[in-house]
Amino acid sequence: MSTEGKGRVMTTHKLLEMKRSGEKIAMLTAYDYTSAKIVNEAGIDIILVGDSAANVMAGHETTLPITIEQMIYHAQSVMRAVKNPLVVVDMPFGTYQGNSKAALSNAIRIMKESEADAVKMEGGMEIIESVERILSAGIPVMGHLGLTPQSIHKFGTYAVRARENEEAEKLVQDAIALENAGCFALVLEKIPASLGERVAKTLQIPVIGIGAGKHVDGQVLVMHDMLGLTNQFSPRFLRRYANLYDSYLDAFKQYVSDVKGNDFPNENEQY
Ligand code: KIV
Repeated sequence: MSTEGKGRVMTTHKLLEMKRSGEKIAMLTAYDYTSAKIVNEAGIDIILVGDSAANVMAGHETTLPITIEQMIYHAQSVMRAVKNPLVVVDMPFGTYQGNSKAALSNAIRIMKESEADAVKMEGGMEIIESVERILSAGIPVMGHLGLTPQSIHKFGTYAVRARENEEAEKLVQDAIALENAGCFALVLEKIPASLGERVAKTLQIPVIGIGAGKHVDGQVLVMHDMLGLTNQFSPRFLRRYANLYDSYLDAFKQYVSDVKGNDFPNENEQY
């Protein structure tokens, strides 16, 4: 599935070329206009409007409660900001599992109302009928295997997935099935690096890792985590590029102190 020629700089076809030429793919989440604008300027290849918005934007413990309306709202905000990257929107929990017709109409709704470029779905063979039906409407689909947070109540833990041979083999078969169905890329979350490497070598489509080691075709992080805004969350795979929690806190404290001390506004900050 190619998105070439539709005006955006990054396309699914270019992502495929990047894999072939060995150029790594950089992907980040974004959920709002202001930060998406900065991410766009930074030269990111893919923006994921992730259902991690349920956690980092809305404060839920899991990704399950976020609704399709909320995902569309986040995606619309991001779309107003970006020109270059491919924008992928997570299909929220309950919008594609078990009913492929409902899955298609939900995917169409996301594409129509947000004007994003693609959707992402968690799971392998269990959801293949929904994946195929959505692809048949010309909607590019990114797969997501390994730790799939929408299944947290089945897993019972956010620990590394597919350490055991049986689960690893199922993951490889699921990855092949998603590629054969026509997915343009695959996210692998929190699995052994050796398995990430094996899947990336097996598939023709780009494999983007989050805690899947360095031998995959690209990396994705949740923006709030890499910026150090979520200072309680420290998985091994997370590299922090800033410590914004402390920067925000210092700024807010200074503001409170300036207002209370009648230091803000000063003569030059009034009309
Ligand atoms: O929702 C999300 O942010 C994701 C990433 C962790 C890949 O799915």
